[in-house]
Amino acid sequence: MNRKIVIGNWKMNKDIRQSVECAEELLQSKYGLDTVNSTDIVLTPSFLALNEVKKVCAQRSGIYLGAQDVFYEPSGSYCGAISAAMLSEVCSYAFAGHSERRMYFGDTDEMVYRKVRACTDAGIVPIFCIGETGRAYSAGRTKAYLRYQIEHGLKDVRPCDMVVLYEPVWALGTGRTPRTDEVEEVMCFVKETLAGLYGPDRSAGQAAVRAVYAGSVCPENAAAYAALPHVDGVAVGTASLCAQKLAAIIHAVDRVD
Ligand code: 13P
Repeated sequence: MNRKIVIGNWKMNKDIRQSVECAEELLQSKYGLDTVNSTDIVLTPSFLALNEVKKVCAQRSGIYLGAQDVFYEPSGSYCGAISAAMLSEVCSYAFAGHSERRMYFGDTDEMVYRKVRACTDAGIVPIFCIGETGRAYSAGRTKAYLRYQIEHGLKDVRPCDMVVLYEPVWALGTGRTPRTDEVEEVMCFVKETLAGLYGPDRSAGQAAVRAVYAGSVCPENAAAYAALPHVDGVAVGTASLCAQKLAAIIHAVDRVD
């Protein structure tokens, strides 16, 4: 069975000091994270705060650092970009194709594919993001939309440790959430599609491929999503900015059998 995972994605929030304070608070004994034993925790602060947060997290095993984005070229004249090899000095995980990158920064399926490849080449676990728009959801085209994203984003990517993050675009930061039966149906479909690409062993249980839900996850709904048979964890944006809420979500996921 896959280890579960909770990803706290701070996005463009918190300066270095605030990031360190939040990580330190999360590790305080009052939140009892030392009792969490079947869930990996990944924090994705801003690039600038990665190093300092990593120092804080070094106090406890099972907490990993992740980058919110990666550029796909290995090196060169790409002003402002950070390669996967550079990230690998600090991070174990990196997002590839977060819907906000697709929406605001023009990430295409081809770019996302190259980012996934760059991560795997550098030994970073990609957090490969997929999710339908509100329009596709309303039109009942969710599965077709996701199949296209998966087949393009992973086209010749060899089976490897990976997180496939399903985040319905219409549920991000909005407080609107899909029903758990909708998420289960989609995640089952995602795992079937991955099994079609990789064979059942890499997607259906023992695999290193973990399927994770994101979209307005909070302490009140985290257990319901994490308990779904085809869900291996959650990624949390807004609620993860508060250490107390993030700790509650981590415990809720960890308690699920
Ligand atoms: P929210 O939890 O704010 O909807 O964001 C989720 C997300 O984008 C995780 O990466």
